[in-house]
Amino acid sequence: MGKQTQNFVAMVFSVAWVILVALCKITAESTIESEALLRWKASLPDQPILQSWATAAQSNSSTAQSPCGWRGITCDAAGNVTEINLAYTGLRGTLAKLDISSFRNLLRLDLKVNQLTGRIPENIGIVSKLQFLDLSTNSLNGTLPLSLANLTQVYELDVSRNNITGELDPQLFPDGTNQSKTGLISIKNLLFQDTLLGGRIPNEIGNLKNLVLIALDGNSFYGPIPPSLGNCSELSILRLTENQLTGPIPPAIGSLSKLTDIRLFTNKLSGPVPQGLGNLSALTVLHLAENNFTGQLPPQVCRGEKLVNFTAAFNSFTGPIPESLRNCKSLYRIRLEYNQLTGYINQDFGVYPNLTYIDISHNKLKGEISPAWGACQKLSLLRIGGNMIRGKIPDEILQLNQLVELDLSSNQLSGEIPKQIGNLSALSILRLNENKFSGQIPADIGMLSNLQSLDLSGNMLSGSVPSQVGDCSKLQSLNLSQNSMNGTIPYQIGNLFALQDLLDLSYNSFSGEIPSQLGRLTNLITLNISHNNLSGSIPNSLSDMLSLSNINLSYNNLEGPLPVGNIFNSAKPEDFSNNKGLCGKIQVFQPCNTSTAEPGGGNKNRKRVIIVVASLGSALFASLMLVGIFVFLSKKISKYASKEEESPANCEEPFSLWYFNGKIVYDDILEATKNFDGTYCIGEGATGKVYKAEMPGGQVLAVKRLRSQVDGIGIEGSKTFLNEIAALTETRHRNIVKLHGFSSRGIHTFLVYEFMERGSLADMLRSDKEAIELDWPKRAEIVKGVAQALSYLHHDCVPPIIHRDISSKNVLMCSNLEAHVSDFGTARILEPDASNWTAFAGTYGYAAPELAYTMAVTEKCDVYSFGVLVLEVLMGKHPGDLISKMQAQHVESINIKDILDSRLPPPIEQKTADELMNLALSCLQDSPQSRPTMRSLAQLLEVEISHA
Ligand SMILES: *[C@@H]1O[C@H](CO)[C@@H](O)[C@H](O)[C@H]1NC(C)=O
Ligand SMILES: *[C@@H]1O[C@H](CO)[C@@H](O)[C@H](O)[C@H]1NC(C)=O
Ligand SMILES: *[C@@H]1O[C@H](CO)[C@@H](O)[C@H](O)[C@H]1NC(C)=O
Ligand SMILES: *[C@@H]1O[C@H](CO)[C@@H](O)[C@H](O)[C@H]1NC(C)=O
Ligand SMILES: *[C@@H]1O[C@H](CO)[C@@H](O)[C@H](O)[C@H]1NC(C)=O
Repeated sequence: MGKQTQNFVAMVFSVAWVILVALCKITAESTIESEALLRWKASLPDQPILQSWATAAQSNSSTAQSPCGWRGITCDAAGNVTEINLAYTGLRGTLAKLDISSFRNLLRLDLKVNQLTGRIPENIGIVSKLQFLDLSTNSLNGTLPLSLANLTQVYELDVSRNNITGELDPQLFPDGTNQSKTGLISIKNLLFQDTLLGGRIPNEIGNLKNLVLIALDGNSFYGPIPPSLGNCSELSILRLTENQLTGPIPPAIGSLSKLTDIRLFTNKLSGPVPQGLGNLSALTVLHLAENNFTGQLPPQVCRGEKLVNFTAAFNSFTGPIPESLRNCKSLYRIRLEYNQLTGYINQDFGVYPNLTYIDISHNKLKGEISPAWGACQKLSLLRIGGNMIRGKIPDEILQLNQLVELDLSSNQLSGEIPKQIGNLSALSILRLNENKFSGQIPADIGMLSNLQSLDLSGNMLSGSVPSQVGDCSKLQSLNLSQNSMNGTIPYQIGNLFALQDLLDLSYNSFSGEIPSQLGRLTNLITLNISHNNLSGSIPNSLSDMLSLSNINLSYNNLEGPLPVGNIFNSAKPEDFSNNKGLCGKIQVFQPCNTSTAEPGGGNKNRKRVIIVVASLGSALFASLMLVGIFVFLSKKISKYASKEEESPANCEEPFSLWYFNGKIVYDDILEATKNFDGTYCIGEGATGKVYKAEMPGGQVLAVKRLRSQVDGIGIEGSKTFLNEIAALTETRHRNIVKLHGFSSRGIHTFLVYEFMERGSLADMLRSDKEAIELDWPKRAEIVKGVAQALSYLHHDCVPPIIHRDISSKNVLMCSNLEAHVSDFGTARILEPDASNWTAFAGTYGYAAPELAYTMAVTEKCDVYSFGVLVLEVLMGKHPGDLISKMQAQHVESINIKDILDSRLPPPIEQKTADELMNLALSCLQDSPQSRPTMRSLAQLLEVEISHA
């Protein structure tokens, strides 16, 4: 062999050796990492999400030794783990056995929105290359480990929405020197929102030279805002809301020229706001509300012409409206109510093409309403009540067809209420009270079909009430008191079935008789028609007003007998005083001479709330119950056979739980449905038909009559049933359809629920017109409402109630489009012997996969169905096989924009849509244990979807 050859061989060998060593190193490295991951996995509850985490022996994949292909694991080219991302996977367990020191090359650790408990590893600081750490929205507790101070490369640290306690240790932050070697030197985004942290905010925080975003909102921090924050020259977002911070805003904050978003509301801050805040030319959001600030608002607050959202409400600000607001065309939202601001509204405000919300009520503002405001075409809320504003309502204002609330109350406005008020078709709240308006109420008021609250009291209005008021079918509160109106009370007011809070016509000059139609207002709580010239007798129908708790008929010319029942049994004499000749049982009145007493009919004293019966979940439930009742009844009947004929009510008692004034409505329902005649049927479910019943007082009931089925079950079953129903009638939640009770006698048995005007979510989504009405914010609210209802059933009811049949058919919508979960809990009646039955397995397309092979119905079945529902709300239709596609592929491969309901314009808050999608996916995991709890979902949604 020649020398050259020898050299060549040597070279080849040495190269090969180098490669071999390198390879060994890679293998060794990934062995350490994969073993650390497997040890962690072994310490966690078994969960499919970690299925791909397995050694070669466990799975036959050739790359199994390397963790690089495992779910959530990313490696660099050398095979070192650089990222662990298990966000939104429903991960359960603790971090206690995660040997973080094995991941020397880890750059990103993202575990947000899971169910991790226990503490943050004390030694987390050892992963010194870490750049990104997000543990937000878990159930971690304990304090912040001091070793975080060693994460000198981290630019984002988010521990929000955990139960982290303790204080922010100054050591977490670099010392003041430029050579500082420890502390979160590189941090840009620091988020500790909604944790349990407290104490003072250390002044050392000002040493974070790279800080861009700091969010400490929703904690218990007290003491001052550290003036040192003024050194964080990169700071763009400062969120300190909802703490107990005191003292002034440090003037140095005003020199942070990159600030775009400052939120300090709901603290105890005081003193004047530094004028420097007005020099921040990048400012888009400034929230100062609910503090104790004094002095003037910063005059140049809109200097950069980027201000979008400005709130300073509920403080003690004085002086003028900031001068730069006049031409602040960027504004969307402004809230300055409850201060002592002075100035002239026609001069200090300009035209805002984007403005949707302005509340400057309860200040000391003068001037007239500027016609220019008519150009704020997007305005949905305008409140200027409680000022000193004069003049007329300019016609231009009446072009604001998106206006939902107009409050001009407690000013000195005059002139007539313009006829064009009828143009404000979106208007829901109209408050013109306590002004000097004169003339008649325009008949066009009847065009306000969305009006819920109308207050025209305390003006100088004259003439009669236009009968068209009766067309405002959504009106819940009507106040026309303290005017100079006359004529009769239009009987059409009796058509305002939605009236609930108040009907006040007092202190006018109304004459004639009280229209008997008022008796139809069975939801009304307060009726005041005192101080008028009303005559004749009090219609007996008024005793049909089941909800009425306050009545005032005093100072009129009424005579004759007082009706009997409901309010008339509890009212006080002064409610009827100073009339012409009332008689009746109340002490101060003469007892009525029976010959003059004219019963006006309808005095049947029925308390009926509008009710509907939703569909029942389980056919079994019905049969079980009916059989139980049958057996129970048979015994009863044989025992009381002689009495049964004359007094059927004897049999009724044990089978009725009826919480409407404790009255049984069995006969009324039978009468109203003509014995469940087919013409009254409005729907059909698995267990029976739903009927609409017009009750004698004019109220509508819908009743689900359970289909009778006979099978075998003992008397204990029916007792259980009654107990269950009793428990269910006690559940009270704004997003749950109220179950009032049930009634049963003989062959008819029915459950009675609250009535939901808009029908089911399923039906609304199916109709193009109604689907469009459900815009993105409304849909987000629906998701939130259902989550809260389920969280309540699962976590606040003892014992917990599992719904078992969540679907869009069982989410009913009330008139203001709030979601109500119906038909819950009925399946629990099968317990504890559920295994004896071929259990009902939810609605096809919503049922959790495990229901196919197990009887173990848990809360997590509801969570799965909820996930389907969320997708359905986003897509506008049932997701169908998209669910299995999503589970098979990686979620990232689905473009959310492509699947959103195309009948709506794309959402403004795309982020919310993304969040909802992720949340839905976390619910749809195969493993029940990996799905989040409804409580954590409800809490997350509460934070994500809030109307700021
Ligand atoms: C992998 O990690 C080891 C140990 O930290 C290190 O020696 C090696 O250089 C890393 N590989 C790369 C490519 O960074
Ligand atoms: C933290 O959570 C764990 C498990 O959830 C619990 O056992 C422990 O008591 C909690 N510690 C504190 C201080 O709340
Ligand atoms: C977190 O803290 C809140 C309030 O202190 C408590 O109600 C909740 O149960 C805690 N959650 C966990 C998971 O420890
Ligand atoms: C930070 O790291 C240094 C050296 O790597 C170590 O001595 C120190 O104990 C660590 N600090 C914490 C709080 O873990
Ligand atoms: C606001 O300040 C006044 C005195 O300046 C004080 O009486 C009041 O308690 C403070 N309010 C709050 C909420 O701190």
